[in-house]
Amino acid sequence: MSNVELDQTEDAQPDQTTTGETDERVREEWLDYDFAGETKLSATDLDVYYGDDHALDGISIDIPAESVTALIGPSGCGKSTFLRCLNRMNDRIKAARVEGSVELDGEEIYQDGINLVELRKRVGMVFQAPNPFPKSIRDNISYGPRKHGDIDKGLLARLLGRDDREKERELVERSLKNAALWDEVNDRLDDNALGLSGGQQQRLCIARCLATDPEVILMDEPASALDPIATAKIEDLIGDLAEDYTVVIVTHNMQQAARISDQTAVFLTGGQLVEYGDTDQIFENPRSQRVEDYITGKFG
Ligand SMILES: Nc1ncnc2c1ncn2[C@@H]1O[C@H](COP(=O)(O)OP(=O)(O)OP(=O)(O)O)[C@@H](O)[C@H]1O
Ligand SMILES: [Mg+2]
Repeated sequence: MSNVELDQTEDAQPDQTTTGETDERVREEWLDYDFAGETKLSATDLDVYYGDDHALDGISIDIPAESVTALIGPSGCGKSTFLRCLNRMNDRIKAARVEGSVELDGEEIYQDGINLVELRKRVGMVFQAPNPFPKSIRDNISYGPRKHGDIDKGLLARLLGRDDREKERELVERSLKNAALWDEVNDRLDDNALGLSGGQQQRLCIARCLATDPEVILMDEPASALDPIATAKIEDLIGDLAEDYTVVIVTHNMQQAARISDQTAVFLTGGQLVEYGDTDQIFENPRSQRVEDYITGKFG
């Protein structure tokens, strides 16, 4: 390679490919990804603004069912903003304005009249910091189903002959087992959830999310506050969940993304989705120079 070519490599243009082309149109191809399986979620031309701040710039992506999709990228590139678009959590942020489309099983979630409680039941969310309710372990699990009217208990329910105690017991056990927490807590279900360790609290939050029987689970850096052992447990759990659920996970930990995800979407500064594909391809053979630089730690 001549010096001139070396200089060109060092001055890589923003949309340069790893094979040296500079045509911005190729970005479309990096996003045109044919995965096996059904599409669960589909975003098209999604823009999000916070006031004048353009946080997401024309995101279009299809997310397959029953698999793990990782969202990676540097801080502030819009990963959490995108995740919140998928169950309309941005509606709760006053400054946020969302334009574009998100479909769940082919149905537009940004249409007027959509039932947001029902949507968030179908598309559940687990946050970065475990946030159990200051209630018993059992009540943390049964709170959602009770709110949705799926479980009835208490004095009035008993008087009316609608006491679902057995149903609750089964639900609590099933949810905790599915979240790989049952063995650690089954003898203290009436203890306050705040007495659990951080890793246990996070699995309890996953169990709470599973209890409302979601189809999609959104996770925003669910293991970033945990030690390596608790993180490994969450990672194993995510792998198991993908057999039945569509998991979309934001992570800053690239090894984690590589370990647990089937496909990876790379967001970069400016709120752009720059490349999307099989996780192996993204990590071993990215097509965008910017993505390669990010993954190899040259910036970010
Ligand atoms: N509630 C908010 N109000 C105003 N601006 C916001 C809000 N939330 C996010 N932003 C801005 O939108 C951009 C994207 O933020 P976002 O939190 O989505 O990034 P991120 O990729 O999740 O970052 P991190 O990896 O640090 O969590 C940032 O510039 C951020 O400052
Ligand atoms: Mg974030």
